[in-house]
Amino acid sequence: MIVTNNIDEVRQHRWAEAKLTWGLVPTMGYLHEGHLSLVQLSLAGNDRTAVTIFVNPTQFAPTEDLSSYPRNLEGDLALLEAAGVDLVFTPSDAIMYPPDFQTTITLSQVTQPLEGSSRPSHFAGVATVVAKLFNIVQPTRAYFGQKDAQQTIVLRQLVRDLNFNLEMVIGPTRREPDGLAMSSRNALLSAENRAAAPVLFRALNAAKTAYETGERSGEALRQVMRQTITAVPQARIDYVSAADPGTLAELDVVVDGVLLSTAVFFGQTRLIDNILIEATEDTE
Ligand code: PAF
Repeated sequence: MIVTNNIDEVRQHRWAEAKLTWGLVPTMGYLHEGHLSLVQLSLAGNDRTAVTIFVNPTQFAPTEDLSSYPRNLEGDLALLEAAGVDLVFTPSDAIMYPPDFQTTITLSQVTQPLEGSSRPSHFAGVATVVAKLFNIVQPTRAYFGQKDAQQTIVLRQLVRDLNFNLEMVIGPTRREPDGLAMSSRNALLSAENRAAAPVLFRALNAAKTAYETGERSGEALRQVMRQTITAVPQARIDYVSAADPGTLAELDVVVDGVLLSTAVFFGQTRLIDNILIEATEDTE
C-alpha cells in the first residue's frame, strides 16, 4: 500500500496505470465500519482503490469541533492495509491550502436548508475539498455514505455542474447494534450521551412507521420525530425534517417519497441521521 502526502506522487501512480479503473473513498479518518464498507464497495468495483484521509478545516466553522475531531492515522492505515487498499493520500493542511489559496466552490439551492442552515459555510468547504480530491486522484468512481444524505445530494450536483468525469456511488448507512449510525463523532460522546444517542434512529423509525400506516402530512411526520427526541433529556434538537429527496424543501404533503432527517446535539456533539423513503407506485 502506498501512503503519501504528495500530490505529484498520487498522480504518478494514478497515471502509471491509466487504463485501470480507480475508486476513491474520501474520508476524514478515524475509520469505522461505515468507511470500510465503502472501501469494500470500491475494491469490488474497481481495479485500484485510493482512500484520502484529511480532516478538512474549511468545512468546520470556528465554533465547531475541528480541534477535538478524533484522529488515529496509524490505526486507520493498519485497517486500510488489511483491507487491501492500493493508495492512501494523507495531505497536510498546507498542501491542500497553501498560503495563496483563493478558490471556494459554492452551490446555491441544495446547500441552503438542513445542514446548510445550521452550518452555513460547511458545504462550501466540502465542495471545495472534494473537487480538489477529484482533480488530484481523477477517479473512475467516488464513494460516499448515505448517512450524510445532503452531502451526497450536494456532491452529485457538483459532479453534474462541473462535469467531473466520474460515477458517484452511495453506500448504505452502517449502524451499531442499537441502531446508532456509525460516525467518527460517536467517539466524542460521554457514556450517558452514547446510551441516549440511538433516539435519532428511533425517531426516524417512528416517523417511517407513521408514513407506512398512512400518514402523509409532513408536519405530522416532523412532530412524531420531535416527540420521540424530546422524551430523551440528553438530546437537544437542531432540526427535524421531512423533505423532498431531490430539492430538500420541507414537505407539507408527502407525494413522491420523503427524506426523513434529523440533527441532534448531545452536549457539544452534534449527530445526524436519516431514512430515505423512496417514491412507490401506489403513493397517493
Ligand atoms: O464525509 C466526510 O467525511 C467529509 O465531508 C469528506 C467528504 C471526506 C470531505 O472532507
